[in-house]
Amino acid sequence: MILITGGAGFIGSNFVLDWLAQSDEPVINLDKLTYAGNINNLASVKEDQRHIFVHGDIGDTAHVAALLDQYKPRAVVHFAAESHVDRSIHGPAAFIETNVNGTFGLLEAVRAHWSALAVTDKEAFRFLHVSTDEVYGTLGAHDAPFTETTPYAPNSPYSASKAASDHLVRAYHHTYGLPTLTTNCSNNYGPYHFPEKLIPLIITNARAGKPLPIYGDGQQVRDWLYVSDHCAAIRRVLESGQPGEVYNIGGWNEKANLDVVHVLCDILDNLDPKSSGSYRDQITYVTDRPGHDRRYAIDAGKIAQELSWKPAETFETGIRKTVQWYLDNQPWVNNVQSGDYLKWVEQNYSQRSGSKENT
Ligand code: NAD
Ligand code: DAU
Repeated sequence: MILITGGAGFIGSNFVLDWLAQSDEPVINLDKLTYAGNINNLASVKEDQRHIFVHGDIGDTAHVAALLDQYKPRAVVHFAAESHVDRSIHGPAAFIETNVNGTFGLLEAVRAHWSALAVTDKEAFRFLHVSTDEVYGTLGAHDAPFTETTPYAPNSPYSASKAASDHLVRAYHHTYGLPTLTTNCSNNYGPYHFPEKLIPLIITNARAGKPLPIYGDGQQVRDWLYVSDHCAAIRRVLESGQPGEVYNIGGWNEKANLDVVHVLCDILDNLDPKSSGSYRDQITYVTDRPGHDRRYAIDAGKIAQELSWKPAETFETGIRKTVQWYLDNQPWVNNVQSGDYLKWVEQNYSQRSGSKENT
């Protein structure tokens, strides 16, 4: 079996669902259930004996050690993190606690477990660390995309904390020989995406008749990848990646934020039209994110050449599926848009001055 961390979050829950749809190998899912963790994402596998959910913190080394001892997984896939850049600006401490100290605690438990394994089990074991393209910093409009050798230059507390965790993973391979794999992926989108992030926020705000907030001029560029393509890439790296190596994962799909928002409005105008006007009428320019990275772009050539992975979805197919998923799952949206979510919306958006789009 494998042990994953953060499997009740956006990417982790998609990974669990995809894994169990394609394999009989059980998954132990260790998750703290922070505001971003949602056990309802896993409702369809609630009765599935192959999914063992464990409520706990990756930084609780004794708890992780006991789990490793009890279940003896062949691999650990580490998703758990604080993941939202804006939250890291308002409250960086939680990012250091989970992404840096938590990853350190997890690595210590895994190192102790792995060191005591028999030689063949030791060789076969893998620790796969799920990271982000944001560790590479920001690109100019004409710069080449990030490769695995691009120097680290994180710009937000979130990306700095992820960079620190990447360095710890690298050090555990070089110093102790732990068979690690690191993946650095671009922006994901798809089902179960918490509506604090751009794409689900725009879909849910649009349908609720609320403003669609565009930070700054909306010309920041992200490389978007449908979440099941990220999950497939992680499975490829887990099975065939070389220990100690880093693999960049991306969709070859750069888009400016404003263009993404226009696409979402146009799909909604088509699938769920308003009684009058377009969803584009709700677009509102608001004060920019401090330190906002201008452009991310991933060169995913290494994973394509060495591991034969490429995305299955185009942006056009993936984004339409995503909008349809949100239309079909309004109860899921209602459930997550309460309590902490409402406090966060107030904290992040009430101080930003806004102006309507005049195009
Ligand atoms: P998410 O915020 O949706 O989910 C994070 C999950 O981790 C939640 O279930 C949460 O409860 C859990 N968690 C948080 N702290 C924990 C702790 N101390 N112990 C145990 N569990 C804890 O995040 P996501 O968007 O699914 O991202 C997953 C991983 O992928 C992160 O490491 C993130 O940095 C990375 N990543 C995300 C993206 C993206 O676009 N979302 C892109 C590239 C990489
Ligand atoms: O690149 C990978 C990263 O992508 C992951 O490591 C992060 O975990 C993930 O959250 C994501 O980070 P971003 O900051 O790029 O994603 P977010 O959805 O928060 O924002 C996408 C872009 O949209 C970014 O340029 C900021 C902008 N934005 C975001 C929000 C929430 C807006 O213009 N308005 C908004 O209200």
